[in-house]
Amino acid sequence: MTDKSLSRRRLVSMSDVSVEDVQKIMTATSAMKEVSERDIKKIPVLRGKTVINLFMEPSTRTRTSFEIAGKRLSADVVNISASGSSVSKGESLKDMVNNLTAMKPDLIVLRSPFSGAPYIVSKWIACPVVNAGDGRHEHPSQSLLDLFTILEAKKSFDKLNISIIGDILNSRVARSNMLIMRKLGINITVCGPATLLPKYIENMADRVTTSLKEAVTGADVVMMLRIQSERLNEKKFPNLREYSKLYCLTSDTLKHAAKGVIVMHPGPINRGVEISPEVADGPWSVILDQVTNGVAVRMAILYLLLGGGLQETN
Ligand code: CP
Repeated sequence: MTDKSLSRRRLVSMSDVSVEDVQKIMTATSAMKEVSERDIKKIPVLRGKTVINLFMEPSTRTRTSFEIAGKRLSADVVNISASGSSVSKGESLKDMVNNLTAMKPDLIVLRSPFSGAPYIVSKWIACPVVNAGDGRHEHPSQSLLDLFTILEAKKSFDKLNISIIGDILNSRVARSNMLIMRKLGINITVCGPATLLPKYIENMADRVTTSLKEAVTGADVVMMLRIQSERLNEKKFPNLREYSKLYCLTSDTLKHAAKGVIVMHPGPINRGVEISPEVADGPWSVILDQVTNGVAVRMAILYLLLGGGLQETN
């Protein structure tokens, strides 16, 4: 294992994940997907382990799939949300995490509105921490399920052309994917209005454009992102109607993509804003495959971090 992150038994950033780690996780995910396709979708590998899902921000896909993943591996899974916790009575994240750790969980999954929170928590406590999305920063398990979905469709990452389109500035999905996709030899184009592209984006992508048609032309994979309105503290474009005129992916625009193009979206989708219904539901779309694969990849992450093959090296 060359990896710094998984061998320290945490998954907080794709910057710490190596190509070898990706291969290992993809292999484990295939096995977990097979389990998920059985009549009895349960194996005893994490029996006796306790996983706490601590979600301080709303979530449908990530939270549910981490819960299902833990249960399919026979772990005991506890779900905590901000509104149902003592954070609403003024408890700090540090006090809450220390109190939860006193109950001896084996792994904590954390979603937080604050960039860097999972990293800090991983320094405070001894048990493994998985970042389930932190502010604008990263969403590593989403990136891994995206990679698995791409691999299923395209068989290899080498020289694939991916276009990531939308609110790049505020997207933790874009950041995690750019970090790992460069290591995997994927050619990355990013596209969005200039006001939604971060400074120095050219250091993270091979090509940057504000033209949707240019971004889609020749793409093997098109990943659409929603506007993260909950993270916009100022107006970045006139209104959603204007935005969708320029950046809504339609079947007409998709004609310029490479043959066999797949369309991805981490969800939740906003139909008619960044993606037309015909594309979201059309033959190019692998959006629901991403959701299916999210369970298998999270089973693989829990399994590998809780003793299923990754050795602690430091
Ligand atoms: N993709 C994703 O993170 O979705 P949720 O916010 O529903 O978890």
